[in-house]
Amino acid sequence: MARIVAGIGSSHVPAIGAAIDNGKTEEPYWKRVFSGFEKSQEWMRETKPDVAIIVYNDHASAFSVDLIPTFALGCAAEFPPADEGWGPRPVPVVQGHPALASHIAQSVILDEFDLTIVNKMTVDHGMTVPMNLLFGKVDKNAHWPCPVIPLAVNVVMYPPPTGHRCFMLGRAIKKAVESYPDDLKVVIFGTGGLSHQISGPRAGLINSKWDKAFLDNLSKDPQKLVKIPHVDYMREAGAEGIEMVMWLIMRGALDDKVDEVYRFYTVPASNTAVGHIILENHRRGAKAAGKHKPAAVKHKRAAAHAKVERVRG
Ligand SMILES: [Fe+2]
Repeated sequence: MARIVAGIGSSHVPAIGAAIDNGKTEEPYWKRVFSGFEKSQEWMRETKPDVAIIVYNDHASAFSVDLIPTFALGCAAEFPPADEGWGPRPVPVVQGHPALASHIAQSVILDEFDLTIVNKMTVDHGMTVPMNLLFGKVDKNAHWPCPVIPLAVNVVMYPPPTGHRCFMLGRAIKKAVESYPDDLKVVIFGTGGLSHQISGPRAGLINSKWDKAFLDNLSKDPQKLVKIPHVDYMREAGAEGIEMVMWLIMRGALDDKVDEVYRFYTVPASNTAVGHIILENHRRGAKAAGKHKPAAVKHKRAAAHAKVERVRG
């Protein structure tokens, strides 16, 4: 059967994509950000997922205010990079996994989550920036290391889904993946955030204390996060901090017990707090599945080190 082995949380700041595309990753300002993802890329190379499910939000690229699906699952064979106003990013077309995506759509919809099925869609920085951060820079004529199933979530126009709904959707996705007959190793990304506000009197807001507590509770007490109302995200994490509910889909798709194997947090990048975490399903469970050799043992040591240095900048 297919199995979700790990969850990855990552900010998807558009300026990170611009730094990659314009060759600025070695500049001191950006090196501070990219150095935090070096161990993550090593982890990804070791983990070698067969498929990635990436939970992200579209920023008026594929969708507009004319049509705003709450949850939109990409079932197409490929997803070209979107033109976000200055041409598409120079990254490869994202290959989908229509068979697993269709299976997830069927399972989740029959579980009473009303997903929108998307058979044609471009994908913007919300998805391609975390892919670069975890897979590294990939030439636009090459291929990403694995197929990707995009799951776009509305967090741009009120009302976004609740954290609880997101978590429960993650649970339904976990069940769907585990009922897929092929032996696939799957990872799931939750992207967006962390605290940030782009406009208005509080533009530039960053709340590191809130962000740290959120990261802590992903493994320690996710049920506490599930209860956070929208207004608390707005007040504590800024207007765009609501993107963090997407991390709860990722968390819901994991086992109850997870190992935090890596974390990185830095401020600012552009006007945003950058947060990143890797959670592996508990090793005993993973061992029972007989497929996943967790990178956790090795990276646990790296995590201890990273924790000391995780608040930088
Ligand atoms: Fe965003």
